[in-house]
Amino acid sequence: IDQPNVITCKAMVAWEAGKDLVMEEVEVSPPQPLEIRVKVICTSLCRTDITAWESQAIFPRIFGHEASGIVESVGEGVTEFVKGDHVLTVFTGECKTCKHCESKKSNMCQVLGLERRGVMHSDQGTRFSVKGKPVYHYCAVSSFSEYTVVHSGCAVKVSQQAPLEKICLLSCGVAAGLGAAWNVADISKGSIVVIFGLGTVGLAVAQGAKLRGASQIIGVDINPEKYEKAKCFGVTDFLNPNEYNEPIQQVIKRISGGGTDYSFECIGNTGMVTTALQSCCDGWGLTVTLGVPKTNPEIASHYSAFLSGKTLKGSLFGGWKPKSDLPSLVNKYMNREIQVDEFITHNLPFEDINKAFTLMREGKCLRCVIHM
Ligand code: APR
Ligand code: ZN
Repeated sequence: IDQPNVITCKAMVAWEAGKDLVMEEVEVSPPQPLEIRVKVICTSLCRTDITAWESQAIFPRIFGHEASGIVESVGEGVTEFVKGDHVLTVFTGECKTCKHCESKKSNMCQVLGLERRGVMHSDQGTRFSVKGKPVYHYCAVSSFSEYTVVHSGCAVKVSQQAPLEKICLLSCGVAAGLGAAWNVADISKGSIVVIFGLGTVGLAVAQGAKLRGASQIIGVDINPEKYEKAKCFGVTDFLNPNEYNEPIQQVIKRISGGGTDYSFECIGNTGMVTTALQSCCDGWGLTVTLGVPKTNPEIASHYSAFLSGKTLKGSLFGGWKPKSDLPSLVNKYMNREIQVDEFITHNLPFEDINKAFTLMREGKCLRCVIHM
């Protein structure tokens, strides 16, 4: 039988918070039971990687969670994948048997949900080491490595025809935005929508809103460079809060005739969640959060927002169940029903990954795709 061995390959290791990643030779152990080892083909940099790299304390660590690849080997008990399958990795898995996986109302798998401690779900161990020292995972994906090990429940098999260098975006940001618009908010035709933050996540919400026939899509961002790109995803009005002497929610209420039907927080700033809630209308106004805040995790709101019938709703990965739902999203891309390529502003070789970090921190990109 073919027994997988330890692989030595290159990975970009984060040794310290906020310090450039360093290319290292890492050892990647064989996949353990129910795990698969994946040859990463492309990985795109998402804002959440940066947030964790800047603010968390688990090091050394291999970041990266928005990725596509090809199965290299499978662990004991894996029946769903064989060597050569094309996959998307996902930061929140689907075990298909827990209470949440069985419910139509949730995508919060209780077995393979968001992993925060830098280890694998199955044994709290790591599959990477550098010179004998363990290297931690990120979101149980760690795609900034030529090879990685993920739980078979945290990978989704996709069509061999789909271009891996594009669809990696569907493993996090673009899917999260589309899902927030379609599954979480369920935007109806003719609606007025406001989106706070016009990065990939916010613009994917805009695309989802446009495809649902929203009549007005207001984009709020402090970076005016985002406007041109935003137009191509359906944003009709651009507001820069720095250009107004009054609170931006007042401007939004005015131009939307009393408040929007839907507000989306796509920045990762809890203060903006409050602003988003103040911007939606009484009665049925719905605010959806997508951002992941780095600081000040508490949300403040006057209870009158709720007395007047507003709703605040959280979301993770746009409500999609990754295994059940992502293949159809990939097919929508293949049928040109959704735009993905337009989010890719840069393509970079693996060794230039630190450039992608700089571009994103300076607000100069939407998605940088890293080619391994
Ligand atoms: N007001 C308005 N816009 C802001 C503000 C602010 N105070 N602060 C930042 N922005 C804008 C930025 O200019 C940028 O265009 O928010 C946008 C965020 O986009 P990206 O940094 O590209 O992030 P993205 O990958 O889209 O993720 C957005 O969702 O998944 C989470 O962790 C992620 O919290 C992050 C959010
Ligand atoms: Zn589950």
